[in-house]
Amino acid sequence: MQIALWRDMLDPYYLAVDELLVKFNHIISSYHREGKYSPIEEVNGRVKSISSMLDKARRKKIPIDQLEQNLDDIAGIRIICQFVEDIYKVAGLIRTRKDMEIKIEKDYIANPKPSGYRSYHIIVWYKVETISGTRKIPVEIQIRTLAMNFWATIEHSLQYKYRSQMPKDLSDKLKSSAQSIVQLDSEMSLVRDEIMDAQNSSRIRDNLINDILNDIQNLYKVANKREVEKIQDEFFKVYQKEDIVLLRRFSEQLNITVEDYGAQSL
Ligand code: GTP
Ligand code: MG
Repeated sequence: MQIALWRDMLDPYYLAVDELLVKFNHIISSYHREGKYSPIEEVNGRVKSISSMLDKARRKKIPIDQLEQNLDDIAGIRIICQFVEDIYKVAGLIRTRKDMEIKIEKDYIANPKPSGYRSYHIIVWYKVETISGTRKIPVEIQIRTLAMNFWATIEHSLQYKYRSQMPKDLSDKLKSSAQSIVQLDSEMSLVRDEIMDAQNSSRIRDNLINDILNDIQNLYKVANKREVEKIQDEFFKVYQKEDIVLLRRFSEQLNITVEDYGAQSL
C-alpha cells in the first residue's frame, strides 16, 4: 500500500475512536448527573500508530496489504474501572448495546496471560458513516481496573525496552507483582460498597450545591436583590452545617421560590 494511502485507510478508525469516546464519556456523565456511582472511571482511545502496525505485520507475518483484515486493534478503546466487579458490569452494558456487535470476548482476568497480564477484552464490530459510505470495522475494547492498568503500563514499557528479551529475574518480578495486583483488587472489592456509598453521597452533595447555585444565579435576574442576598446568606449557613438532609430541604424550598418567580428556565 502506498504510504500516502495510509491516512485514508485509517480515517474510519479515527472516526470510530472519536465516536466511542463520546459515547463512553456520556455514560460516565449520565451516572454522575444522577448522583450515581459510575462503573466506568475513565476512558481513553487511540488509533494504532503506523509504526506499530508495521511492527505487528512483521512479527505476525501479515502482508502489508492485508493489515485491515488481520488486525482487530487498529482502533482501540481502554476503559478503566475502580473495581473488578465494574469490569463485568461494563462488559454487560456493551453486550446490550445496539450500536456494537460482539465479535470476540477474551477474559484475561479469569485466565491471565503467562506474563501476568489481566484485563477483559471485547472486540466489537462498529459501524461508521464515511463520505464513501458505511463501514463496519472492528474495535478492541480493553476493560481493566486502575490497578491492572498500572501493572500493564509498567510492564508494557519494560517489554518495549527489552523487546523480546526481558531478563528472567525481571519477568519473574513482574509476575510476582501481578500477584500483588490480584490481591490488591480483591481487597479493594471488599470495601467496594463503602467506597461507592462515599462517592455517591459526595456526588449527590455536589449536584445539590450546583443546583442551588444555579437557582440563586437565576433569581438574581428577576428577584429583588436584597431578597436574593438573604437566600444566599441562608445557603451559607446551611452549607456550613455539612448536613445533606438540610441541604436537600433548602434546595427544595429554593425550587419553590424559583418557580414562583418563573425563573427556572432562565
Ligand atoms: P497482540 O498481543 O496485540 O499481538 O494481539 P493478540 O491478537 O494476541 O491479542 P491479545 O488479546 O493477546 O492482546 C491484545 C492487546 O492486549 C495487546 O495489544 C496489548 O495491548 C494487551 N496485552 C496483551 N498481552 C499483554 C501483556 O502481556 N502485557 C501488556 N502490558 N499488555 C498486553
Ligand atoms: Mg498477544
